[in-house]
Amino acid sequence: MVAHLKDAGALWSEEWVRAFLTVPRHELIPNFLAILPGPEDNLILDEAKPDQKDLWLETAYRNVPAVTRTDGGGGYRSSSSAPATMAKMLEWLRIGDQDSVLEIGTGSGYNAALLSERLGAERVTSIDLQPDLIKEARDRLASIGYTPHLAVADGAGGYPDRAPYDRLICTCAVWPIPVAWRHQVRPGGRIVTVIPDGCMGLDVEPDRIVGNIHRDCFDFMRMQNYMLEAPADQELLARSNNEASTSRTLRYPFSILNAGGTLQHSFQALVSLIVTPACAGAVNEQQEPILFDLWSGSWARVSWRTGQVDQSGGRRLWDEIEDLFEQWCGLGAPNRERFGLTISADDRHTLWLDSQDSPHRWDLPVRRDQIVA
Ligand SMILES: C[S@@+](CC[C@H](N)C(=O)[O-])C[C@H]1O[C@@H](n2cnc3c(N)ncnc32)[C@H](O)[C@@H]1O
Repeated sequence: MVAHLKDAGALWSEEWVRAFLTVPRHELIPNFLAILPGPEDNLILDEAKPDQKDLWLETAYRNVPAVTRTDGGGGYRSSSSAPATMAKMLEWLRIGDQDSVLEIGTGSGYNAALLSERLGAERVTSIDLQPDLIKEARDRLASIGYTPHLAVADGAGGYPDRAPYDRLICTCAVWPIPVAWRHQVRPGGRIVTVIPDGCMGLDVEPDRIVGNIHRDCFDFMRMQNYMLEAPADQELLARSNNEASTSRTLRYPFSILNAGGTLQHSFQALVSLIVTPACAGAVNEQQEPILFDLWSGSWARVSWRTGQVDQSGGRRLWDEIEDLFEQWCGLGAPNRERFGLTISADDRHTLWLDSQDSPHRWDLPVRRDQIVA
């Protein structure tokens, strides 16, 4: 696994290579649902089942996410993320030997184990909203010799008890960046967090936070209690069938969302930040995709059959997406890593291209009620 992570460019520093070589991932995920790539079927694996033991052990060291909790309705509640993704985030945290770290989203405890191996457990704090996960992670971590400070807490509020931290890493998707984090990470410190459809590395300065978007697409579960939950597909489809809408001819097909390359989906990243960070999607019986903005309740149904878009609600989502697409093409279709974010002391989130002084800047939508400390 480590050789693969190095070949893939996800892992390179001596210290993290040593940590990944040392921590036994399998000890933290005794049973899981493996999300396998491409045509392979997902696997449910359990160490306790003798006929699965070899495959379980082998899969624990593949670069695949291991889902450890589901919600019973097809959704995932916790997982040990794909090791390459974790390695990229840890490398991007630019950690120093003496740094203290807050991790949000303990999950299986694998990340907390890697951090403990790298820094010493006394420098590591990790929190999760789900008490049963914390209990299991604590027991399993102790059984392999790691005793970081674990607690049940809501990540949107950080964890003031052990602040300030030098580094904060959040392994569930969050938007906007919670204000508490800025107060709990010392100036000069760094935050690496998953956002909808991506990841940001942010440096904390005395009067603001500044950073960049990672070049890769990150697809993580959302932070509970903070990000709006997407309603079930049936509910979304019923709304799009019943609510009044207006119709017009498409300027561009739905596939513009994937423009910018299959892996990096640069344009999709901008849509997630500039148009709708709180997005849900569904597909109707005619195989037409429908996008919903959970904040405003607006939606857009894009039909490849009729070449029409139907839109409803206070915002015209597809108009905004097509306008942004033209703007992005006019800028030469920049890759997502050319975009950065500045969060001011009054919590305005501003996206920019290439530099903070760029003429190409966007004030991003944030819900004020969400970022209150
Ligand atoms: C992808 S998993 C984390 C994986 C973990 N870092 C590991 O190494 O296994 C995301 C986790 O975020 C947690 N989470 C979701 N919302 C949260 C919140 N508001 N506060 C703290 N944790 C939260 C979930 O319970 C879940 O365990």
